[in-house]
Amino acid sequence: MGLDEQKKNAAVHAVSLIRTGMTVGLGTGTTAAFALHAIRERMEREGLVILGVCTSSGTQDLANRLSIPTAPLSTATNIEIYIDGADQIDHDGNIIKGGGGALLREKLVAVNSARRVIMTDASKRVDKLGGRVFLPIEVVRFGHDTTISRIASGVRCTPHLRRKGGVAFVTDEGNHIVDCEFPDGIASPPSLAQTLDAITGVVETGLFIGLCDLLIVGSDTSVHLTEFPRKEVIL
Ligand code: 5RP
Repeated sequence: MGLDEQKKNAAVHAVSLIRTGMTVGLGTGTTAAFALHAIRERMEREGLVILGVCTSSGTQDLANRLSIPTAPLSTATNIEIYIDGADQIDHDGNIIKGGGGALLREKLVAVNSARRVIMTDASKRVDKLGGRVFLPIEVVRFGHDTTISRIASGVRCTPHLRRKGGVAFVTDEGNHIVDCEFPDGIASPPSLAQTLDAITGVVETGLFIGLCDLLIVGSDTSVHLTEFPRKEVIL
């Protein structure tokens, strides 16, 4: 079995934590898409009723196609659970997100949620963040080249402006994404996040610090759960 099967196993387990009546933060990406399909299946099979809060226009489109009821973040006052994928996660629960370009809305939904559940395949667990996965940073379009230079000199990384179809990628919030390369990994994710947050022109970083309460890593046949603060269980 492959990574998709592992993502699906993680997503199905995450969706099993949802109860009728809950407001649910719906992440973005392929793992989150598996979760939306699993929600739809439970709606049909057992009459599950939820209210979703989508983290991207892509997820909103999928929720609409699957007839999952949704509300905007500003009217969803009590998000009990947020389920989302990740690009990398370390042993302290620090995460890199934003591979799909939705990091800003994802973080907004995550910080407004009571319980944050991250679902991944086994390849996403790492000892040190960075390395072969770039860190996405959302920057305002105005003067973005100058912001990118200040990021590169401020935190010593190699920045790449994300492009799609030959032009600079634009997020749902109208900003650009800079993918930053840290070939030797990120020594201290919390302090890097603080430094980047202080750079003018940076809107948000893909470093999610303290935003994972439960990690579900799918394997080919089961799931591995880690609660943060750490408590490990094998199912
Ligand atoms: C989107 C994200 C995704 O959660 C992350 O890129 C993982 O994606 P996938 O589930 O497709 O592997 O942060 O902005």
